[in-house]
Amino acid sequence: MKTTILVAGATGHLGGLIVHALLERGAVVRAIVREGSDYEKVQQLEHLGVQVITANLMHVGQVTKACEGVACVVSALQGLHDVILDIQSVLLDAAVAAGVSHFIPSDYASDFTKLPFGENRNFDLRREFHIRLDAAPIAATSILNGAFAELLSYNMPFFNTKDKTVGYLNDANWRVDFTTMANTAAFTAAAAMDASAPRVLRIAGFQISANEMASLAGDVLHEQFQLVRMGTTTELAAQNVRDRAAHPEGEAEVYSGWQRTQYLHSMFSVQLQPLDNDRYPGIKWTSAREVIAKH
Ligand SMILES: NC(=O)c1ccc[n+]([C@@H]2O[C@H](COP(=O)([O-])OP(=O)(O)OC[C@H]3O[C@@H](n4cnc5c(N)ncnc54)[C@H](OP(=O)(O)O)[C@@H]3O)[C@@H](O)[C@H]2O)c1
Repeated sequence: MKTTILVAGATGHLGGLIVHALLERGAVVRAIVREGSDYEKVQQLEHLGVQVITANLMHVGQVTKACEGVACVVSALQGLHDVILDIQSVLLDAAVAAGVSHFIPSDYASDFTKLPFGENRNFDLRREFHIRLDAAPIAATSILNGAFAELLSYNMPFFNTKDKTVGYLNDANWRVDFTTMANTAAFTAAAAMDASAPRVLRIAGFQISANEMASLAGDVLHEQFQLVRMGTTTELAAQNVRDRAAHPEGEAEVYSGWQRTQYLHSMFSVQLQPLDNDRYPGIKWTSAREVIAKH
């Protein structure tokens, strides 16, 4: 019998890719969407053969029904407390009530298990959810993949093709973790179909330092990239505390200015190791060279 996987957040960027990867692996895919989810995206899911269930994600009875017969619930939801804690908790309670044996929370991040509370608001929400998850009678797997490699095309401080700069904190030899969304989705799909997946799986398509990035970008793009020291992680952490206090409106935004620099701080504070990249054969990891070459 085919394995059925329920995806929450299937209308989103990562969730959509996870759906494709699950279908490629032969899973029956069910998507739980909300009333008001984009109609075209819902239709696209249906055309792929996904069983779409529209429900109130705060209603444990409705969500439990969607979880019936499911081997694993995969969350790729995005949001703040109301989503990462409240909706994911309903999803968790529903999964347990329906007898689902495996749950993958919406983590997909730097290794925040090694960060102290208070350094990164969005990671703190996930760690708070982990406390509930780890107390629940269900196996769980967190996928930690570093930053999405696609972010490198947005002129982020680490790699800015407009200014021709590569920024770093502390040490230009510190390697930052990156994985493409497609690789993250392919690995997550494999983990969802793996009943013995451990509590945490760490992956990185590539780990690259500012020094290596400047040299590789110069080589691939035939332009000189300047290294820029942006201070230390301690200095940025202190700045983040000040910026968060000065901009309380950012508490209501998933990617407020200070949240983005909290992510930058995390990239230079924790590293994914050891890596579980080889756990599932057949995933072709996109390299830094391939990502830069797309510029
Ligand atoms: N490591 C990285 O660099 C990186 C970068 C970006 C994202 N991420 C992570 O990847 C995961 C997915 O992010 P994404 O960018 O794919 O998100 P996204 O494209 O914004 O999609 C979010 C999904 O969550 C659903 N959702 C949001 N609020 C909801 C609510 N109140 N009720 C029901 N559904 C709700 C959306 O449904 P609707 O279509 O109905 O709105 C959508 O399906 C998150 O954990 C995020 O933190 C990691």
